[in-house]
Amino acid sequence: MRLDKLLTSAGLTRAQAKRAVAAGRVTVGGVPARDAGAHVDGASVLLDGRPVSPPGEIYWMLNKPAGVLTAVRDGREATAFALLPEAVRRQIPSPVGRLDKDVTGLLIFTTHGELLHRLISPKYAVKKVYIARVEGTPDEADAQRLTAGVAFAGFTSRPARLEVLGEGLVRLTVTEGRYHEVKRLLAAVGHPVLALSREAMGGVRLDETLGAGESRPLTGAEIDALFRAARLERN
Ligand code: URA
Repeated sequence: MRLDKLLTSAGLTRAQAKRAVAAGRVTVGGVPARDAGAHVDGASVLLDGRPVSPPGEIYWMLNKPAGVLTAVRDGREATAFALLPEAVRRQIPSPVGRLDKDVTGLLIFTTHGELLHRLISPKYAVKKVYIARVEGTPDEADAQRLTAGVAFAGFTSRPARLEVLGEGLVRLTVTEGRYHEVKRLLAAVGHPVLALSREAMGGVRLDETLGAGESRPLTGAEIDALFRAARLERN
């Protein structure tokens, strides 16, 4: 990482970073830095004698409210990204998969590109768990159809696990991540979705103490669970 990038990620503006280097306030490996564009990977960087740490990866959970898009930016509409704290947004984490505008619940954001890729790739079959209010109440035959795979134009869905929680209320666990997956699966077995919320993903459950639109960093155990689900070594 470049020295100026490290300093700006630690909170300085680019102009302040340049001035701090020019004024000899920054040392790299104990030697006053001369070049703000120098690469400083692995070296100990001090500003006014205090260590400047590279930013860590971001792993964050949001309780997505209905009515906001998952997109990072949208010129006109409210986005889930805009609900994250400013310091988190500055590192531009990406949403791990998309939730439709009307869908609520667990939306994870991360800056870790490989983890993101694996969590949403059908290849790694990471479990996503949804709670749905549906028309009617599915029965055992519906559950079996979902387990066997539903034939759509051009593909058959992977096995999905249906649990009936009550009248018109189900939990559906899927591993694929196709567009409108849960709505399409439940409609295909005759129980269109009335309301949908994501409860868990890759072993991480939505923190029920988060109100709609609230977010928090993942705990170490939650991050470990995501790496396990993605079959990725955490380093
Ligand atoms: N399935 C859907 O139909 N919508 C979502 O937002 C997520 C999964």
